[in-house]
Amino acid sequence: MKLSADSRPVPVRGETLVKFFTRAEKGTIPSPVPEAEWSAAANSTLMLHHEGVLCVGLGDGAKLTVQSIRAAAGTAVRTLRRSGRRSAALDLRGHTKWLAAAAEGAVMGGYEFADFKKAKGEALESVRLIVNAADLPKARKQVRRGEITGTAANLARQVGNQPGNLLYPETLADECRRVAKREHLKVTVLDEKQLAKGGFGGLIAVGAGSKRPPRLIILRHDGGIPGEPPIALVGKAITFDTGGISIKSADKMEDMIFDKCGGMAVLGAMAGIARLKLNRNVVGIIASAENMPSATAYRPGDIVRTYDGTYVEVINTDAEGRMVLADAIAYARKDCKACAMVDLATLTGACVVALGDYAAGLWSTSERLQAALLAASAKTGERLWPMPLYDEYTEQIRSEVAAIKNTGGRPGGACTAAAFLKTFAGDTPWAHLDIAGVANTSKARPEMSRGATGFGARLLIELVDGWRLG
Ligand code: BES
Ligand code: MN
Ligand code: ZN
Repeated sequence: MKLSADSRPVPVRGETLVKFFTRAEKGTIPSPVPEAEWSAAANSTLMLHHEGVLCVGLGDGAKLTVQSIRAAAGTAVRTLRRSGRRSAALDLRGHTKWLAAAAEGAVMGGYEFADFKKAKGEALESVRLIVNAADLPKARKQVRRGEITGTAANLARQVGNQPGNLLYPETLADECRRVAKREHLKVTVLDEKQLAKGGFGGLIAVGAGSKRPPRLIILRHDGGIPGEPPIALVGKAITFDTGGISIKSADKMEDMIFDKCGGMAVLGAMAGIARLKLNRNVVGIIASAENMPSATAYRPGDIVRTYDGTYVEVINTDAEGRMVLADAIAYARKDCKACAMVDLATLTGACVVALGDYAAGLWSTSERLQAALLAASAKTGERLWPMPLYDEYTEQIRSEVAAIKNTGGRPGGACTAAAFLKTFAGDTPWAHLDIAGVANTSKARPEMSRGATGFGARLLIELVDGWRLG
């Protein structure tokens, strides 16, 4: 899809013109329709075939945010693609301050996972964003930025949508190498032998049940001053989570292909950070394993020594995300000497119970990092909701036989999981995002196709972009 900023106000060469209307502006549509037929509700559409104009609703003008424009642009592109149009011109003259978001939404609206099935419609060849001539130089930069961040999210979605029989730790590592080469990132992959030798007991334990060995994938972007401590972005990438010996029920187990989406957010973000040449040192750490039950699988009752020497009593093998993250977080602290770190993980069903699929949970030991994440979230529309790290949660996971146990029972399940991870961050400012509810969507939305959402990729780019050292 070719995306451009352009000041020609009328459609050229077969383009469908897209116009955006708040409820109050509805009266100005080219061909008036009754309220019952179209009310300009947010992300609703009305195709005026005679005029060749697609109208997209923005809802209540008083509630208009950057997210309204992002979603409306996505809705426009997704609607046109599904009706077989090949090129569009989005009239954004009234919304130029949010042009990057509009470009981003357009790129994301154009994505559909169609590796194994013919897609509905075909990708648009070109999308022109109409702005006033005076805004053009700035608009071009904004469009480029939105194109990069939207593409980063789509990369996270595309790898996230791959099935477990094709995408497993080794093939994920291959994919990361390809991305690294293309985006000029440095990449290191630790294989199962190196992990065992290095003492990555969490990754080894979780990967032990599978014929497909685990990997720790490390991507680096050196955009800052040499020697400057990096920001670490850490992701859970369980390529399929059966639960292991503590096996899951069959109901919706197929969705566990999305258990790698924390890692995919990190991969997408690193690609975007490199493409934008952000002036920070950043390290992306993706902890990948397949959680399977077998004769070689780890068991409840096992005691595992993680990378930093902490002994963990395994209560439930389905609490595998925190086991692999324990190693990755400790690696970020000890080996990368990160100035701050953020982990993303589809960690708990409890977080989905708490927040639904409307927000990710946010836990942090640093007010500054938490504020930076919330600021980034407000810009990208990826919602975060602050959650507590009371000492009682840590007490709940105290073990009788080891330093810590890997589950603390049902109450506060998302919070005890966060408290577990906190142990491994030590004094390094740390934040944890539980994206279990938001990483994938079973139903398509007006602005986005079904499957992996890419949640977190754009957020992390924005975080790194806004992060000041010290
Ligand atoms: N990947 C799951 C969490 C999950 C559940 C994500 C549903 C998306 C939808 C995670 O590995 C898991 O199984 N967590 C357990 C933890 C429990 C054993 C303490 C859970 O949430 O049940
Ligand atoms: Mn699990
Ligand atoms: Zn899992």
